Amino acid sequence: MRLKNKVAIITGGAKGFGAAMVRLFVAQGAKVILADIDSENGQAIAAELGENCLFMRCDHCDKANNELVVKTAVDTWGGIDILINNAGIGWTGDFIDADDEVLQRLMTINLTGQWNLTQAALPELRKSAKNNANGTALLFTSSGLGLYGVTKSSAYTVSKHAVIGLMRSLAAELGPENIRVNAICPGIADTNLARSTTAWGDVDQVLSKLAENTPLRKLAEPIDIANAALFLASDEGRMVHCVALRVDGGAHT
Ligand SMILES: NC(=O)c1ccc[n+]([C@@H]2O[C@H](COP(=O)([O-])OP(=O)(O)OC[C@H]3O[C@@H](n4cnc5c(N)ncnc54)[C@H](O)[C@@H]3O)[C@@H](O)[C@H]2O)c1
Repeated sequence: MRLKNKVAIITGGAKGFGAAMVRLFVAQGAKVILADIDSENGQAIAAELGENCLFMRCDHCDKANNELVVKTAVDTWGGIDILINNAGIGWTGDFIDADDEVLQRLMTINLTGQWNLTQAALPELRKSAKNNANGTALLFTSSGLGLYGVTKSSAYTVSKHAVIGLMRSLAAELGPENIRVNAICPGIADTNLARSTTAWGDVDQVLSKLAENTPLRKLAEPIDIANAALFLASDEGRMVHCVALRVDGGAHT
């Protein structure tokens, strides 16, 4: 059990990468608050996992929602040891079509929500860090597009680069308090997010072409992202700080 008695908040835990993280973290002994706007899937996963997983309907862009999630973690399990800001949305299209509304939506959901929940949880992360020699873990899900740029992805790419900027500045600011701050940069994976990014056209064709062009000749799966999160969140990752960890089979060599 690599996360025995740790309390984690995982946003976007109702589907995709977040759902894989929730399942893996509970299997490794953590008590998890699954925070998501998708009540149907979120409740189903919480019911499947039992008493160590609590679903909360939470829009991480809503400060009151975030405060309630933090309060519930404290009231139920006594604090927060791990925060994973994973929720996000995709977008693809030509730059000329990325109007103010598109840019605002991507920045709000992919950056401001992660920013706000981190602020709400920080007092509890600080308390946890004081009591744990190996530090407490603050993790962001960015993207390969937090590090690189590709065509038809401007608004998404900007929002994911911003997440890396937030991770780096918090790593500098919070590292001395023993709060380890890292980001995961997944490559493209076959999730709801990828499938709902409709401007791609035939998603199956796009995904198989991307897999062919990746050195490992395959795409990441949610469990690959969850395994990276487990390492970064566990005591085994105690010296890993300010890393943007690519989990993408070597895409963008
Ligand atoms: N799938 C990919 O190819 C890929 C690649 C790189 C990075 N990412 C990033 O990984 C993260 C997870 O993506 P995924 O592929 O698992 O997507 P997904 O759509 O399968 O899951 C995302 C979850 O986030 C939730 N969510 C969306 N907006 C929310 C909000 N405002 N508040 C709370 N929850 C919200 C959704 O309800 C959903 O359950 C995202 O940040 C995404 O940008 C995905």
